[in-house]
Amino acid sequence: MYEQKFAPERAKPIVAINTTHGTGTEVDRFAVASILEKEYKPAIAYDCIYPTFSIDDPELTKTLPEKQSIYTSLDALNHVTEASTTVLTNSLSINLARDTVELIAEYLPKVIEEPENLETRYFLMYASMIAGVSFDNGMLHLTHALEHPLSAVKPDLPHGLGLAMLLPAVVKYTYKVKPQILAYIYQPIIPGLKGISDEAEEVAAKLEQWIFELGVKEKLADVGFSEEDIPKLVKLAFETPVLDLLLNSAPMNVDKELVKTIYSESMKPYN
Ligand SMILES: [Fe+2]
Repeated sequence: MYEQKFAPERAKPIVAINTTHGTGTEVDRFAVASILEKEYKPAIAYDCIYPTFSIDDPELTKTLPEKQSIYTSLDALNHVTEASTTVLTNSLSINLARDTVELIAEYLPKVIEEPENLETRYFLMYASMIAGVSFDNGMLHLTHALEHPLSAVKPDLPHGLGLAMLLPAVVKYTYKVKPQILAYIYQPIIPGLKGISDEAEEVAAKLEQWIFELGVKEKLADVGFSEEDIPKLVKLAFETPVLDLLLNSAPMNVDKELVKTIYSESMKPYN
């Protein structure tokens, strides 16, 4: 199924009980699996796997470790960054994206101070849920298409950390073509943007700074990747089943050169 050899039309009823605040999968039609021997981490999207019932209870996230708390919220931040800038985006995805960023900007720093604060966990879980609706309607593009090869090659790499390391470079190139939308949704993190393409480098650097201030300071070179891995990662981004759909949803023409550049710029910090 994950290699697109057949498409399911029906599924058993799914009851989703969420234990993180990142995936959004309790409200969407997506699922992900790793095929370790092929170094593939494909996604599937079928209407029949929408959960029949979902439970988002912040109580269940109170003991989520600090790093996973941050990584999962950064996953949600990536979901909306991408969903609001695909070729399929729409005002629902964009406005849910803005709400998501507002909540994450306010509550994510608080979860580090007070991990058991239920109000903080509630709003991070709510942010992740609406981010799920945002990308179920708007789709995803570059950070997810480029992260899946990273955590397929290194299965211990948390998805949210992989995304966090790639996000500044992806935003730099996305901002050049979608400056107004990104200036609008990122206002709670980077206030005062004009929404013009020339700000792309500044936005990438400030976003990286914000991620670093959350304590996530790693870049690809820090987790064991080097320039020599880039050709394989580029190949996987284009060859892993379904990831090409994400690449084609990006707001710019994505060729191997751009993917290579993003991996390369994500090796070390901009700042
Ligand atoms: Fe994700």
